[in-house]
Amino acid sequence: TPTNVLEQLSLRGKVAVVNGAADGIGLAVAEAMAEAGANVALWYNSNDRAVQKSQELASTHGIKTTANKVDVSNAESVQNTLSQVVKDLGKIDIFVANAGMAISKPILEQTLDEYHKQMSVNVDGIVHCSKFVGEIFKRQGFGNLIITSSMSAHIVNVPTDQPVYNGTKSFITHFGKSLAREWREFARVNIVSPGFFDTKMGASPNCINEAYRMSALGRQGHTKEIKGLYLYLASDASTYMTGSDVLIDGGYVL
Ligand code: NAI
Repeated sequence: TPTNVLEQLSLRGKVAVVNGAADGIGLAVAEAMAEAGANVALWYNSNDRAVQKSQELASTHGIKTTANKVDVSNAESVQNTLSQVVKDLGKIDIFVANAGMAISKPILEQTLDEYHKQMSVNVDGIVHCSKFVGEIFKRQGFGNLIITSSMSAHIVNVPTDQPVYNGTKSFITHFGKSLAREWREFARVNIVSPGFFDTKMGASPNCINEAYRMSALGRQGHTKEIKGLYLYLASDASTYMTGSDVLIDGGYVL
């Protein structure tokens, strides 16, 4: 590892996979990886803007990119796409498990289908991605997993009714910390816990008002304000960090 911190932050020669990369936080993270010189696989599900985005990033930054359509709730889809990325880009240094969804309703108004949907994307999705990328990390002898959880794994935010979503994020945080120990010989695992960001998921008046009322900075975060944290965790500037859970919430959880 170089001693110069700006050299440590370079991802030149590395391969990063980002899921949920067509929108919001995932797209900002894919841009951060590309701007730091990594070759990037942008995974998307419904929004195929990722295809065009991946081409733009490749030509702007002189890197290799792919755009892969994946449903993280489907184990086979995750496994096949990981193999495809290794074929196309040679290896996987960094995997950002970021895809997620919320159905914001009190539990008493939620159908069991809505419950299962959130579990299948947020919980099954993280397990599928981690298990199958972990096999690759172990085989390679190196790897770096970054998981997007939420400040709602720390607190129950008011007044957004998200009991199931909050529960899935608690699972994700503790699962990620457990992997940091399990994989200590070959990979690092860290968790990012965002507060209210101005994405599709954070677009409800509830989220906007709550960020205004309750966070120290009195506003939602912009996705450009989260790029540096993911870059830091993905890079050799953070080689002593594993199992950490980093809040980035404008001072909401205080
Ligand atoms: P977003 O709704 O803009 O992006 C979510 C992404 O996940 C989308 O690209 C979507 O296509 C993808 N996705 C959903 N289901 C999928 C599936 N089955 N397979 C593959 N991809 C799937 O929301 P945002 O805010 O960018 O969310 C990113 C992550 O950040 C999520 O895990 C979310 O829970 C987390 N988060 C967001 C906060 C916010 O205020 N925006 C706060 C705390 C956490």
